[in-house]
Amino acid sequence: MGTSTDLTFGAAQLPPAVAQAAQQILDRIENDEVDEDLIHQLASLGPLREKALIDHRATGAVFTPYPIAQELVDLLDVGAGEIVCDPSAGSGVFLLAAAERKFQRGESVTSISKTLRGIDIDPVSIEVSRLTLKLWAASKGGQWPSTDHLVVGDGLLDVPEKWLGTCDVVIGNPPFLGQLKSETSRNRGRAQALKQRFGSLYTAYVDESMLFFLLAVELSGEDGRVTLIAPSSTLGSDSSQLAREWIDSRLTLSGIWIGGRSVFESAAVDVVAPILRNDKRDECLIVRYETQDVLAVQRPLPGCWSSLLARANGVPAIAITATRRLGDRAVVTADFRDAYYWLAERVVEATRNDHRPKLVTVGLVDPFSYRYGDIPTRFAKQRFQRPVLDIEDNPPTQLGAWLEQRLIPKLLVATQTRIVECYADIEGKLLPSTPLVSIIPEQESELWHLMAAVSSPPAAAWLASAAAGTGLSQGTMRLRASLIADLPLPEPSKTWDVGAELAREIQEKGVNDEAARRFGEAMNQAYGLPSSELLHWWISQIPKKRP
Ligand SMILES: C[S@@+](CC[C@H](N)C(=O)[O-])C[C@H]1O[C@@H](n2cnc3c(N)ncnc32)[C@H](O)[C@@H]1O
Repeated sequence: MGTSTDLTFGAAQLPPAVAQAAQQILDRIENDEVDEDLIHQLASLGPLREKALIDHRATGAVFTPYPIAQELVDLLDVGAGEIVCDPSAGSGVFLLAAAERKFQRGESVTSISKTLRGIDIDPVSIEVSRLTLKLWAASKGGQWPSTDHLVVGDGLLDVPEKWLGTCDVVIGNPPFLGQLKSETSRNRGRAQALKQRFGSLYTAYVDESMLFFLLAVELSGEDGRVTLIAPSSTLGSDSSQLAREWIDSRLTLSGIWIGGRSVFESAAVDVVAPILRNDKRDECLIVRYETQDVLAVQRPLPGCWSSLLARANGVPAIAITATRRLGDRAVVTADFRDAYYWLAERVVEATRNDHRPKLVTVGLVDPFSYRYGDIPTRFAKQRFQRPVLDIEDNPPTQLGAWLEQRLIPKLLVATQTRIVECYADIEGKLLPSTPLVSIIPEQESELWHLMAAVSSPPAAAWLASAAAGTGLSQGTMRLRASLIADLPLPEPSKTWDVGAELAREIQEKGVNDEAARRFGEAMNQAYGLPSSELLHWWISQIPKKRP
């Protein structure tokens, strides 16, 4: 090709490995060695920049592999002439994939350079993205202009005003900065600035990636399309519920790309990319990256993005109409940290014929059973076979009050599960350790009815639809007390009475397929959902008895 380019690299801040690789690419271009592989060599500058980073965690800098960026650019069907923006551009992998796609569709390099926008907080990454696009332009026989639309800044706070409402496509992989870990949590000044910027949609625990979704919707023009890679927990987390509802009121969720856990080599996290566009159809598409399966399902209710993941995981779609929620009939609570600290000082191994209160941990609760003594459990960094609480005669007042509220008949629910795992503590002798959820019926006589409702197939499907992806993997959910309290209850009926009786029987005698089928059938009827699909799905999810 013999293009002469005015590339200047080796700029002070470029990592040496990047400058060296860029020189090799330039040599190839100048020697007319441009072939299909060159694009991958260009895309490799990003990972070299990533390797040079000292700490990825604070800015969530985990760069996207080129084939993934390509796949998402294709899914959004990026067209010639469209304005494409990546609000946390990193080293520009999405812009590179968009440039290539636009070029293939007949757009000139000059036009492409005017229609790509990127912002990143890291000046070196922006420099790498500029270098990548300069080399790309040279490889096409064109020239990247000296003034482009790649800027250094905080995307959430400094994005250029004139970009708002004018992008055809907003695409990228924003930083995932969970707010429960100190190394990724925001400082107070930034939290205040973000609160001012996003108003009531900002919540203290909202993941940074969800704020980028809000920004992306603001950047998007009326007929714009948006997709950002995000941790699957954002689909159902409580902290981003308001943000999801607001987004759904502006653009519609038209699909979801399920990336799974294998997308990023350096971060084992389950990822998804919700796809938003102005789309009036009732259907949503689910695309699975790992298998390339595509599934069309009904669009979820506003803010209920988890339900798409639930559908992808095979959870049947259900609609429950109810006049009462569990929280109307019971107190639903996950204990607080103080209780944990008290317990930590007082839990000991049981002696023979010990009558002290037993400690329950989440790992011990299975559907209809409690494995105390069968398997060891860990609590406060110690291993116990039969943990009991050694309480002094005069416990601190608050601890005494807490013990009184917990040592009563109740249901205990594990929090990281595929279906609901609930055990009825009928004698009120078990003490829950956080994050186990306690359900304390207002009327003790309703204990087994509530147990049947919470343990039922409709409850499992309803909760999975609301919280799929919020657990440690895409197939599990993290059940928070407020969500469990929201669970719809069936109307009083004979079938619910039968379900309650069967729940008691199963807890006493153990779960087997026949008992589970009879219980599931009764509760499906009680909820007005006599569905064999729901029943089969639920039975298939019951964990096999552990040895
Ligand atoms: C997960 S990386 C992805 C980069 C690129 N979009 C990609 O897919 O390869 C996230 C990027 O966001 C940048 N970043 C972090 N906080 C930011 C902010 N507030 N505004 C703009 N960029 C930010 C990081 O520097 C990093 O480059």
